[in-house]
Amino acid sequence: MEGSGNRIAAILVLTLSFLTCIVLSEDASDAQPQVPCCFVFGDSLVDNGNNNDLPTLARSNYRPYGIDFPEGPSGRFTNGRTVVDILVQFLGLKGFIRSYASARRSNTLGVLFSTPGVAGTSGLNYASAAAGIRQETGKHLGANYYLADQVRQFNSTGQSLRGSFGNDTELNIYLSKCLYGVSMGSNDYLNNYFLPNIYRTSQQYTPSAFAEVLVQEFSGQLLKLYDLGARKFAVFGLGLIGCIPFELARMNNTNKSTCNEDQNKAIELFNTRILQLVKRFNTDLPGARFVYGNIYDPFRDLLLNAAAYGFTVTNKSCCGVGPNNGLITCLPNQTPCQNRTTYLFWDSFHPTEALNMFFAIKSYNSTSPSDIYPENIQQLATA
Ligand SMILES: *[C@@H]1O[C@H](CO)[C@@H](O)[C@H](O)[C@H]1NC(C)=O
Ligand SMILES: *[C@@H]1O[C@H](CO)[C@@H](O)[C@H](O)[C@H]1NC(C)=O
Ligand SMILES: *[C@@H]1O[C@H](CO)[C@@H](O)[C@H](O)[C@H]1NC(C)=O
Ligand SMILES: *[C@@H]1O[C@H](CO)[C@@H](O)[C@H](O)[C@H]1NC(C)=O
Ligand SMILES: *[C@@H]1O[C@H](CO)[C@@H](O)[C@H](O)[C@H]1NC(C)=O
Ligand SMILES: *[C@@H]1O[C@H](CO)[C@@H](O)[C@H](O)[C@H]1NC(C)=O
Ligand SMILES: *[C@@H]1O[C@H](CO)[C@@H](O)[C@H](O)[C@H]1NC(C)=O
Repeated sequence: MEGSGNRIAAILVLTLSFLTCIVLSEDASDAQPQVPCCFVFGDSLVDNGNNNDLPTLARSNYRPYGIDFPEGPSGRFTNGRTVVDILVQFLGLKGFIRSYASARRSNTLGVLFSTPGVAGTSGLNYASAAAGIRQETGKHLGANYYLADQVRQFNSTGQSLRGSFGNDTELNIYLSKCLYGVSMGSNDYLNNYFLPNIYRTSQQYTPSAFAEVLVQEFSGQLLKLYDLGARKFAVFGLGLIGCIPFELARMNNTNKSTCNEDQNKAIELFNTRILQLVKRFNTDLPGARFVYGNIYDPFRDLLLNAAAYGFTVTNKSCCGVGPNNGLITCLPNQTPCQNRTTYLFWDSFHPTEALNMFFAIKSYNSTSPSDIYPENIQQLATA
């Protein structure tokens, strides 16, 4: 009796999974995910709500943010999806990665691993707007979780997941298969080094000395993630910060359409060192694979050739006020531009979803080492 009951159950399961396969194969987007999970560290370029409950001006959980996002305003600093949201879809994960703040608020960290394959259970996002590599960065706007805070939060996530695994070896095997996206450093310039009236770093450090201290601190935090079990890293460099509407608006010349190249040179010093770090880690850290996502050079090409990519407005944000709409971020309930797919910038600091798509495609499947080095994210994920 018991045996035949089991057999019936087994046949049912087989039939169900057969049906599931048929249904799945009809829709390529429901294919097996290329990685089991993804953890995200960074700033407002990839924040998806971690600042919503913090006392800070660096928040975006109000309209018109999210105007093109299915869930509306969520704390993302763009009109639609971030680069991470798009990459997660390319990787075939179910749903978007949840913000650490929301998982902690609803006390659902445990769900993360107990129900794999269900939307929102494939990792966590710790990114915090205005945050940087340095602790003081962005704090004139209010609170944020800087890089070391985010790494501590990942550590505590790991601790609370131990119970879901037989032993630490099993947990580490699991964590080693996940993808770790890190996008940090923009605010150490924008909301620190480039604000000499508020921060002293530009008096304390030359641009190359500053890049050096940032990358040293960054390196230490990446090593901590490695010690905690991370192996597959996608580290993004910084974009052309001297060309964003915020910096264009602060230029004192009347022609506010040329970039601040002094700022861009400072950014280059940082990017060069991050690329060197990625090369060094790939040879020095056993089992680790790092890729460097170049945002800078592809963006330079795009600016020179914007129309060819369908962008018609490159020096003005879609919402905001002042010259270039660049003085502050979108005002609550402000009506943004209509043609959001033809603007590079959504607000004075942040790309539109259309520009995020450009970067996501480059890093996911470009075969050019000047886009993503030494392999692309698809290769990192699947091999
Ligand atoms: C951890 O669990 C796995 C699977 O149950 C087992 O093969 C392995 O020996 C265990 N390792 C340790 C260190 O206990
Ligand atoms: C993670 O947290 C534990 C407990 O607080 C601590 O002992 C350990 O050093 C931390 N690991 C890293 C890599 O920071
Ligand atoms: C513009 O002028 C202000 C006040 O004179 C100065 O503080 C600021 O550094 C200048 N900005 C640039 C980009 O030159
Ligand atoms: C502003 O600068 C750009 C780039 O140098 C130049 O192409 C453009 O003609 C200038 N516009 C005016 C009004 O001077
Ligand atoms: C932006 O660039 C366009 C053309 O390149 C120019 O006509 C316009 O004046 C610029 N806008 C601002 C605010 O500088
Ligand atoms: C939006 O873009 C289309 C095509 O580029 C153009 O015809 C139209 O005038 C634009 N509308 C606005 C409001 O800019
Ligand atoms: C890269 O990915 C994008 C988005 O999925 C796709 O449109 C494009 O065809 C892909 N290109 C290559 C070379 O795989």
